[in-house]
Amino acid sequence: MKRTSVPFTLITIFFLLIANGYGADKLSDLGFLDEFEELDGEQLSKTYCIACHLYPDPKVLPKEAWPYQLDLMGLYFGYDDGRMLSSLSDPAKRADLYDVGKYPDEAVLNPFQWAAIRDFYESSGGSGPVDPPPLGEPLALFETSLVYGTSTIPVTSLVKVIPEVGGFYLADAEDRSLVQFDSKGFITDSEILPGSVVQLDLEEQMERATIIGRIMHPSNSATGSIFERKKGESDWRLIADDLHRPVHLLTLDLDGDDHQEMLINEFGHYVGSLSLLTSLENGAMKKNMLRGDPGSISACVLYLDENLELPHLLVLNAQAREELTFYRNRGDLRFEPETLLQKPPSFGYTQLLVPR
Ligand code: HEC
Repeated sequence: MKRTSVPFTLITIFFLLIANGYGADKLSDLGFLDEFEELDGEQLSKTYCIACHLYPDPKVLPKEAWPYQLDLMGLYFGYDDGRMLSSLSDPAKRADLYDVGKYPDEAVLNPFQWAAIRDFYESSGGSGPVDPPPLGEPLALFETSLVYGTSTIPVTSLVKVIPEVGGFYLADAEDRSLVQFDSKGFITDSEILPGSVVQLDLEEQMERATIIGRIMHPSNSATGSIFERKKGESDWRLIADDLHRPVHLLTLDLDGDDHQEMLINEFGHYVGSLSLLTSLENGAMKKNMLRGDPGSISACVLYLDENLELPHLLVLNAQAREELTFYRNRGDLRFEPETLLQKPPSFGYTQLLVPR
């Protein structure tokens, strides 16, 4: 290759290290601007697009999908080609996006370099459907019938079937309702909660509701919460609030002290985390962050034969760094993370299920 090949390799390795260490808060902090003057779009992309996540090959998305993705990613490079920020009329909203979006104040690449990256992706994208394929024939063995209609636009945030009784719960994000149905589809109970319910744990003695927040849409405000009530009671008790869009909750004793901890996947938006809530002796809750980036989406318990006492964890992350991480339980609520699988940000992990 050209004379840039040696430094290019070295620098790429350095970037990879940073990417694996999750250090790239602001691309501009990484420096190395003029050194890349001679790189073409592909080389630039392989240098810069790995700062925050795995390298997205242009072929992973159809050509038509790239302009929007590059408008979005351009913000991290200091370019607002799609006017995503400048078209926002609310200055507070824009300031909030600047603060937490980690966008640089000045462009990281010069306009020619940024244009070269854009050209590379837009010209070498893959082919494939951008729109979902048309629906096929209806399923022959099933018949659909409407069991319930809402007065608002339905935005179902949860469907939970209770196999023992045959009934189910339905939560709606628009009117924040939680409605219970019997096996025939008749309503047996209905209540309004402080936000949209995304998970309902029905234990022998206890019911627990995880609320993503007051709105479902991506947002950096921390309006998520967890509520509990004893079975048979009607009033919910607030257990945790100020959560960043919690989407999944595991409640279990992780340190063998007969008290339960809560592992919360706070998906968030630009702010989010994987956090562990423990109850203190005075009844207060303490929050520890196991991982500090957004996109935490799902978690499972894993018991390894060698140590049946302490459960280990498997956690799935989406958004930028899509990956599956094993958290080895070292006792005393200390966990040792090990990444098992990594995918580029276009992959789209959504849920993790480990059969018992
Ligand atoms: C400063 C960090 C950063 C850099 C640098 C970066 N990305 Fe991203 N990327 C993100 C984050 C954060 C997300 C997920 C959140 C979002 O959609 O904004 C993401 C998501 C994506 C997605 C998936 C978007 C979706 O809708 O799910 C694609 C594709 C992508 N990036 C491509 C690129 C390309 C190509 C480059 C280089 C030009 C790049 N990224 C550089 C942070 C970065």
